[in-house]
Amino acid sequence: MTDDVLVVHGGTPLEGRIRVRGAKNLVSKAMVAALLGDSPSRLYDVPKIRDVEVVRGLLGLHGVKVTDGDEDGELVFDPANVESASTDQINVHAGSSRIPILFCGPLLHRLGHAFIPDLGGCHIGPRPIDFHLQALREFGATVEKRPEGLHLSAPNGLHGTKFALPYPSVGATEQVLLTAVMAEGVTELRNAAVEPEIIDLICVLQKMGAIIKVHTDRVIEIQGVPKLHGYTHRPIPDRIEAASWAAAALATRGHVEVLGAQQADMMTFLNIFRSVGGEYEVTDARPPKLGDPGQEGGIRFWHPGGELKSVALETDVHPGFMTDWQQPLVVALTQARGLSIVHETVYEQRLGYTEALNSMGANIQVYRDCLGGTPCRFGRRNFKHSAVIAGPSKLHAADLVIPDLRAGFSHLIAALAAEGTSRVYGVDLINRGYEDFEAKLADLGAHVERP
Ligand code: EPU
Repeated sequence: MTDDVLVVHGGTPLEGRIRVRGAKNLVSKAMVAALLGDSPSRLYDVPKIRDVEVVRGLLGLHGVKVTDGDEDGELVFDPANVESASTDQINVHAGSSRIPILFCGPLLHRLGHAFIPDLGGCHIGPRPIDFHLQALREFGATVEKRPEGLHLSAPNGLHGTKFALPYPSVGATEQVLLTAVMAEGVTELRNAAVEPEIIDLICVLQKMGAIIKVHTDRVIEIQGVPKLHGYTHRPIPDRIEAASWAAAALATRGHVEVLGAQQADMMTFLNIFRSVGGEYEVTDARPPKLGDPGQEGGIRFWHPGGELKSVALETDVHPGFMTDWQQPLVVALTQARGLSIVHETVYEQRLGYTEALNSMGANIQVYRDCLGGTPCRFGRRNFKHSAVIAGPSKLHAADLVIPDLRAGFSHLIAALAAEGTSRVYGVDLINRGYEDFEAKLADLGAHVERP
């Protein structure tokens, strides 16, 4: 553990410019989709993060040849020789990510059977997979839970179905999409998630030859096709990473330009950012023309000086305020005057990290009650899922242990905003979802070092 520590000398505003690449939560799914094609796929702007490595490893085990393309961040997937992998080989990836569950549909289509190891991912609640398994059974798969993992087969093939999700789960919607595109007949999914990453996955599948209609009111209709080909795709940028750096700029009273950040996918975040008192300016991308090199788009975020204002916010499925934006922003809310309220309605246990902020001088109380009007599954189930943040608080340095990816980034922001020298343990976890974060911190003038 001692070599996985970052020493952070806080109190310096972050100033400068960084770039975000393809969204982690799209890229990893697009990689799985490549399994469905009968010809190679090409994905650009793939960030160098741990989740990508896990999926690359799993694809390789199943016979998909993954190579680096000419452009930095370009990956090429050749699915010509898809084959079964042994449970022992697959189990090397047990506990490393939640993406393996999305291999179910594609492997059932390509091989007729699938083995899925124990899942990993962040510890932010129980994170069940019941919707996924229920959906797969609806398509005609048999699912057997064994101690080493899940064994699935589809002896009679997979068939379109009508199915409603109990909650608009991102992963379960992706599961249905990746399975329905090649299932026989029509699938109608109700109460689907419609996050921008889902729409981008639909774009990928459509490029491969799928027929998918997105209706109003969270209904998605998929007409199964017998065969799909490879795709070429440039993913949407990572709006979680972009918001994380924006929150870091605000909490450290700095000024950060995030190249690649896109306004349309961040509208809800931008509204809250402005309500808190942060300022931003959007630069639209301009394609190159003769005599004009063009311009990369992005968003500049800064603290305008003076005091920040408290806000009330509730996390929700799209188009609501993303749960993954919550932890980084709360650090900035510790600097706002008055009482801010956060009602977390997506995950039941995503406020545990506030204890570490309190150990640094923040004043955050967590409650079991729903402090907001958004219908929520946790209110009557005794989960501490609402927070009241009283500010402004002067943050001081502390020794911190990173619990999960997004909370980890919020610890890092808190250490950067605090006076004094903090030691942040477990920082390698941040590499799961933030490409080159240490190099980006250096570009922004942060005083951090490995001991
Ligand atoms: N849920 C169930 N049963 C299921 C599936 C989900 O009860 O079978 C519940 C979950 O427990 C949770 C809620 O539904 O309370 C939403 O979960 P969802 O399935 O939408 O989340 P996910 O697909 O597991 C993805 C992202 C998360 C992000 C959520 C919500 C990936 C790899 N992960 O998770 O990202 O928070 O959607 O937008 O796409 C992160 O990037 O740090 C991260 C955690």
